[in-house]
Amino acid sequence: MQTIEVLFTPAEFDALSRRDLSRTACVVFDILRATSTIVTALGNGAAALVPVAEISEALAWRARQPGVLLAGERNGLRIRSAQTGGADFDLGNSPREFTADVVRGKTIVTTTTNGTRALRACAPAQTVLVGSFLNLAATARRLRELAPENLLLVCSGTGEQAAMEDALAAGALADLVWSDVRGGIADSAQLVREFYRRFQNDLTTAVTHSANGRRLLALPELREDVAFCLRRDAVVLVAVMSRDGRIEKSI
Ligand code: MLT
Repeated sequence: MQTIEVLFTPAEFDALSRRDLSRTACVVFDILRATSTIVTALGNGAAALVPVAEISEALAWRARQPGVLLAGERNGLRIRSAQTGGADFDLGNSPREFTADVVRGKTIVTTTTNGTRALRACAPAQTVLVGSFLNLAATARRLRELAPENLLLVCSGTGEQAAMEDALAAGALADLVWSDVRGGIADSAQLVREFYRRFQNDLTTAVTHSANGRRLLALPELREDVAFCLRRDAVVLVAVMSRDGRIEKSI
């Protein structure tokens, strides 16, 4: 790898359409919770996940393919009939809902506030991987094998702002591949690596103070998602988004 760089906010990843990503691998992080949920679903046997930006796109998928499951959130909560003009979505965005009995063999179309938007913004890249603490080591191994010229770690953020937990995960991944980078280390990468190293022995406390951590911990039905998403290397798989926008497991 020749370069490593990190993006922190939607304003930065929305600008990716003006960059040449043909020799770039993007790893997208939305730790709380979109990318952790996608990795969990694949680990539990989902056939594929399809990230879309809008509720209307998800509904159009269902109209074309009635067998797909619809998942996602607005304001952290499952999308309901009042927002679809029809039925409730099948699933929200809590990884704990995506159990094997619900998702095995299914294609799941998902729309979330930031995570699916970040994934779509990376679509033109040579390679797009879905990153989380859950599959961090497997993702780092794949990056070493692929040895892309450029590595871009894309933090989905929260609303229009940066999210601490995404920066911590980007730092953890940067730390794992650091010795493979041949020179072009952006300050953004240096920054997240130092940040991660500062908190690596107590990620839970750090994330407890983040905006997303505080938001989820205040909701009794979602508070366990925080600890769930911080389980490092609990799922041994690489999640790859192909050119057609499908995310599938690649061991
Ligand atoms: C997002 O994509 O913005 C999130 O993952 C939000 C959430 O799950 O609450």
